[in-house]
Amino acid sequence: MKLSKRINGIQASPIRKFFKYTEAAKKAGKKVYFLNIGQPDIKTPEVFMEAIKNDGREIIEYGPSAGTPVMIDAVRAYYRRYGMEYGEDDVIITCGGSEALRFIIDCICDFEDEIIIPEPFYTNYGAYVKSSGGRIVPLTTTPENGYRYADKEAIERLITPRTRGFLLTNPGNPTGVVLTPEEMEVIGQIAVEHDIFIISDEVYREFVYDGKPMSSFGQIARIADRTVLVDSVSKRFSACGARIGAVLSKNRELMDNILKLAQSRLCAPTLEQVGGAALYGLDPSYFDETREEYQRRRDAVCEELLKIEGVVCMKPPGAFYITVKLPVDNAEDFLIWLLREFDDDNETVMFTPAEGFYATEGMGRSEIRIAYVLKEADLRRAVQLIRLALEAYKNRKS
Ligand SMILES: Cc1ncc(COP(=O)(O)O)c(C=O)c1O
Repeated sequence: MKLSKRINGIQASPIRKFFKYTEAAKKAGKKVYFLNIGQPDIKTPEVFMEAIKNDGREIIEYGPSAGTPVMIDAVRAYYRRYGMEYGEDDVIITCGGSEALRFIIDCICDFEDEIIIPEPFYTNYGAYVKSSGGRIVPLTTTPENGYRYADKEAIERLITPRTRGFLLTNPGNPTGVVLTPEEMEVIGQIAVEHDIFIISDEVYREFVYDGKPMSSFGQIARIADRTVLVDSVSKRFSACGARIGAVLSKNRELMDNILKLAQSRLCAPTLEQVGGAALYGLDPSYFDETREEYQRRRDAVCEELLKIEGVVCMKPPGAFYITVKLPVDNAEDFLIWLLREFDDDNETVMFTPAEGFYATEGMGRSEIRIAYVLKEADLRRAVQLIRLALEAYKNRKS
């Protein structure tokens, strides 16, 4: 029996192959610091559980395919606070940002249509585009230029008659890059001139540091007909397992067609929408503390990284990731060696090699991604372990 070419073209999680090494390290009694996980360790706000506990329904029935009116209203009210006015038909509630992305790409991609994505990018974008039959066209960025990508000429060189959209994460995973208003204008202008969609994945929206304001493509009125936003409770409210997200757009045709896909999977989880609506209702001051915490962690990681000779990285302005170039030829080999051979005081560390975040063969081989979702002291120790391991690795080789 045969499986589809589309599904065979999708790579399994690039991180999976390292599990056996972390398991072996743990079995050998070593403590492993995990810098590879995008799961925040911040407590989910209590309003989520309270709303569900107080709900009182006796049957968990299907809800409307587009989302419950309470949930949709809560999302709209949240956007209104940031000066973005979305009508009730401009919002569809999804099973996480993941489903929102899948729906959008299925709606705009025919076989061999192209989506431009700055690389390195969130690896699951590869799965969404490939399973739709489309093609990723990577816009390559480098650690040396801080992974910035809003370069008009470089983007226009990639546009062909098959280009359907520009997909970006802002603030970025895995780079932490945040677009400036000028850079957003550049991307908006290109999208208008070449008549393509801007798919803006803003699931890390509030994680912008150094007192800078958060921004959204939804705030640029003149491109509203081609802007599609991806939203989620996962990172913003530390509620990854709730599986609640949203797609927002004022493009009627697109939203009518996304609704067809939403109808085909019946509805997003009913009870989690009750909790999700409460989360969206939280006062914006909720983010102050979380933001401060992540900023402290980012600063601690950067401070420790700067103590490592030969490392290339810039302090990322947002999200909770940092991509770093290490002074090694192959970060995967280094990680495997580290998990198998290295410990300091019976402690070792796990990170994500960045090669899997690139679509271009051979790119990112010396880079890693660190997710700073541990407590500050643990983060410092984990980066210190990378430094000690690099020293030992260098000496081992020579
Ligand atoms: C950039 C980005 N987009 C979307 C998602 C999907 O999140 P969820 O489906 O949990 O909302 C993630 C999760 O890590 C992500 O990093």
